[in-house]
Amino acid sequence: MKNLTLSVVATAASMLALNAVAQVNPAATAADPNAFLNQFESTFGKSEGYRRSGAKGICAMGEFVATPDARTLSTASAFSGSPVPVIVRFSVGGANPKAPDNAKSQRNMALQFNLPGGEQWQMGNISAPVFGASSPQQFFDLIASRQPDPATKQADPAKVKAFNEANPEVLLIGKHFASQPVPASFGSVNYWGVHAYGFVNARGAKQFGKWIFEPVGGQQGLSDDEAKEKGPAFLFDDLRQRVKDGKVAFNFNLELAQAGDKIDSATVPLPEGRKKVNLGMLKITSVSEDGGGPCLTIAYNPLVMPKGVEASADPMLPARAAPYAVGLGRRLVEGAKQQ
Ligand code: HEM
Repeated sequence: MKNLTLSVVATAASMLALNAVAQVNPAATAADPNAFLNQFESTFGKSEGYRRSGAKGICAMGEFVATPDARTLSTASAFSGSPVPVIVRFSVGGANPKAPDNAKSQRNMALQFNLPGGEQWQMGNISAPVFGASSPQQFFDLIASRQPDPATKQADPAKVKAFNEANPEVLLIGKHFASQPVPASFGSVNYWGVHAYGFVNARGAKQFGKWIFEPVGGQQGLSDDEAKEKGPAFLFDDLRQRVKDGKVAFNFNLELAQAGDKIDSATVPLPEGRKKVNLGMLKITSVSEDGGGPCLTIAYNPLVMPKGVEASADPMLPARAAPYAVGLGRRLVEGAKQQ
């Protein structure tokens, strides 16, 4: 494991050497993970050591216990019914490690289930039912369209308008955040997986579905006045207090797809009213007192799944794996940090 970490660092070091002179190449495409990371940095800026997305975050530990219903859907070892330890990372969306906690913006909950026999299940869930792009190239072009002009330090409004008009689905996620209050806590907002996955049971039957982690105590938002009052940095202490009080837990629910439902797009939710199965409960048991903790060096690659859970044909899933690894490499070399 140590050797693996060292080789990741060494590879990343050589990538960084190249990156020091890398400019955004107008011919670059989403197929090149280094180009993706360069574009993230050009558009959103770069904070040394921080994740290029979800920069402001905190590690926590949790425990997941599955329901018997989960076992009828999938043989995954996560669903044995015995408690499974989970390495959790809560974060605020974006590349800014000082992003305000009191804005109507994205919150994330990334999970690594540590399963028997060294198996792992990683996922990065967001506080919206849809993502901001449905294909890797669309996402790449979206962030390229927002790249600040060196003279004005602002995105070119004409480019933004043209991109939005040609790709209206990229605006859905922002509309969701605008329609919701500022979350009162990392522990009081829904987190969606946004991709479909297949759940395979002991008879070999595969059921596709999309999951949501829903707070057991319900969603809780702040009024505009309350949000102003709270200020830009309250989420970490709020989480520590709520977890000490034993109040942070989520139902892991799966919405079941039916024949004909679109299951290969992160911008199209399943139709309203699909049957929802409770797969179990994730309870958050402790929160890091500082910027350290085991989540710091995990990239939460959504293709790390246990046997019994399979990726759908959503093209965003394979497109995430390499940029996450490159992103991890870059921040390890810089000295990984998150607060
Ligand atoms: C091709 C598409 C995507 C690219 C290139 C991309 C890129 C990245 C990168 C570079 C990171 C930081 C990784 C690290 O340093 O460890 C990240 C984090 C994250 N991404 Fe994406 N992303 C993509 C799609 C998505 C989608 C569809 C979702 C929706 C669920 C998503 C949710 C997240 C979350 C929740 C995190 C933070 C995880 C954490 O706390 O470590 N991303 N992304």
